[in-house]
Amino acid sequence: MDQESIFENKTVLVTGAAGFIGSNLVDRLLKLGARVIGLDNLFNGRLSNVKDARKSQRFIFHKGDVRDFNFLLDITQDVDIIYHEAAFTSVPQSVKMPSSCNDVNVNGILNILNASLKNEIEKVIFASSSSVYGDTPTLPKKEDMKRIPISPYGVSKLACEAYMQTYNHVYGLDTIALRYFNVFGPRQKDSTYSGVIAIWLGNILRDENLTIFGDGKNSRDFTYIKDVVQANLLAAKSDSPGEIINIGAGNPISLNDLADLMLKITNKRNLKINHTDPRPGDIIHSFADISKAKRLLGFNPKYNQEEGLIDYLEWYKKQYSINLDINK
Ligand SMILES: NC(=O)c1ccc[n+]([C@@H]2O[C@H](COP(=O)([O-])OP(=O)(O)OC[C@H]3O[C@@H](n4cnc5c(N)ncnc54)[C@H](O)[C@@H]3O)[C@@H](O)[C@H]2O)c1
Repeated sequence: MDQESIFENKTVLVTGAAGFIGSNLVDRLLKLGARVIGLDNLFNGRLSNVKDARKSQRFIFHKGDVRDFNFLLDITQDVDIIYHEAAFTSVPQSVKMPSSCNDVNVNGILNILNASLKNEIEKVIFASSSSVYGDTPTLPKKEDMKRIPISPYGVSKLACEAYMQTYNHVYGLDTIALRYFNVFGPRQKDSTYSGVIAIWLGNILRDENLTIFGDGKNSRDFTYIKDVVQANLLAAKSDSPGEIINIGAGNPISLNDLADLMLKITNKRNLKINHTDPRPGDIIHSFADISKAKRLLGFNPKYNQEEGLIDYLEWYKKQYSINLDINK
């Protein structure tokens, strides 16, 4: 069955629809013929992210909160599939406000799961995070290895995963949790708490030097948004109830190398790379074993970091009519 035929005539709820990942997913689902309900409280999301989606007759946007159970129950009445992307997403903020993080993420998933049971939702797909692994030294990260999160955000995502599996085992709800590894691409915010690629791209466009927290030897498995959207589409058609699956590029890069690569691609080698103290809650190395995603979902990432960065920059140039010389 191809992806088109899966989503035609389906009604899909995307929470966090005005955010980075949610809005990219919304656009793709609309292209595949789904009716899409977007939900976001606009805490971090932007209405401009769903500007194109709102032109479609198959899209409805609700400003609302995943902590409001009755509201969720109401809007999920005719829904077939839920993508739960809404979250308290910042690791450093979660260190400052652990209770708020728990409230949004853990009470949020419980509401989603309880509404799903009541309204007999076919499948719930949840955006988990590589942060559940914490700083265990074993690399690459495999789904069944020890998880020792080192931030309240990571703890909340681990709790969400456990609820997803429990609702599958105890109530028979069809759930899948996807553990994303550092996603980047169009619509990611260039703000203090967003991913480093979006922040550095903002710096580069303003001709500012780049800052690395720590010595820059730490590495991440930066994963391009189009591959993450693809993984979510594959998850909807897979038969893997209760599973937790890594979604990454499977190809780590150090922050030092990433900074060099970004300056090379943008022809901005004149900019400097400065180092400051490491941040609490930051993991040193993170790198996904994606064999389970390949086996259960047929996932095959199409973008390495350089290809993803070039695609992202092309989008940026077009979106903001910026004169940027991309070194391919
Ligand atoms: N971006 C990454 O690298 C990454 C990595 C691992 C996991 N994730 C997970 O993927 C999901 C999407 O992340 P993102 O990068 O798009 O972040 P984002 O902040 O852009 O999107 C999250 C959205 O959720 C909304 N939201 C927050 N609290 C809400 C609430 N109480 N009710 C309704 N909406 C609420 C925000 O306004 C925002 O639009 C999150 O669950 C995040 O934890 C992201």
